[in-house]
Amino acid sequence: MIASYPQARLRRTRTTAWSRALHREVLITPADLIWPLFVTEGTGVEQPIASLPGVSRWSVDGMVARAREAVDLGIPCLALFPNTQAERRSDDGREALNPDNLMCRAIRAIRDACGDAIGILTDVALDPYTTHGQDGLVNHAGYVENDATVEVLVGQSLNQAAAGADIIAPSDMMDGRIGAIRDALEGAGHANVQIMSYAAKYASAFYGPFRDAVGSSGLLKGDKKTYQMDPGNAEEALREVELDLAEGADSVMVKPGLPYLDIAVRVKEAFGVPVFAYQVSGEYAMIEAAVAAGAGERDALVLETLLAFKRAGCSGVLTYYAAHAARLLNR
Ligand code: PBG
Repeated sequence: MIASYPQARLRRTRTTAWSRALHREVLITPADLIWPLFVTEGTGVEQPIASLPGVSRWSVDGMVARAREAVDLGIPCLALFPNTQAERRSDDGREALNPDNLMCRAIRAIRDACGDAIGILTDVALDPYTTHGQDGLVNHAGYVENDATVEVLVGQSLNQAAAGADIIAPSDMMDGRIGAIRDALEGAGHANVQIMSYAAKYASAFYGPFRDAVGSSGLLKGDKKTYQMDPGNAEEALREVELDLAEGADSVMVKPGLPYLDIAVRVKEAFGVPVFAYQVSGEYAMIEAAVAAGAGERDALVLETLLAFKRAGCSGVLTYYAAHAARLLNR
């Protein structure tokens, strides 16, 4: 039997800061954060990204500095994305297979500098390497071919694992790629390299600034609706997650984040596995726009959104605010 008013006054426990702290159900800590970073060619290069105010692309030496910063802040993992030079992009994205590509050089440099003090998650998809900006191989009819793409993604994953990636994160949404990548990793002696599947990834309008950051926005013709999910679907997200788990995913991701929090909850309730959410570039840009318009206070907005992911049952969040949030949380 639950007491009712006035025996029960839910405001009692909210009266003081110490009591609110004592009764808080979930916490966000720096250990919950994965920091996405964009790498570019050169040395000593920092390129601010206009549509992501406060976020820059860094050359490999700058990535190492960011990695050291993350270690100091208690951030456990980085997510790397390359801004591939135009002359290295091709129809088939073969630069993804180059053992000396930008990603691999960044992975090795961070590993050399930080050892195992930080995890390195690498995105698997061809869009940063293709001249058409699609995540896979496009046929004459403009359709992204599934099975042929999976073969390349397997090669890309092995390339990243050989360079020292800890978590392979396929973001391409091809069918069957998790199983194919898992088999290949096992076969190549990478039994402990994890797979975090972008399992429920939607064809979203919230990825715009990211495509600027990796330099694919001007190249992309059309959309990604034949492989990324329809925003109206939730049952289908559960099927995507179930398949990826059956194929060997260690953890799954829901993307975008806040607009799809219901999906995170349902995935967690249905499968009880580690679920991560990606607070994507458009979500970041929206908060920055609100701050610039005087419609909200950055620190409060950031911490509240990150806490929401934990409340929804997420193990962690990929967020461009990772370093900023960690600094706030470490105060
Ligand atoms: C690439 C990829 C995208 C994002 C992560 N990996 C863009 C896309 O699918 O078009 C988006 C991340 C963000 O918006 O912050 N496959």
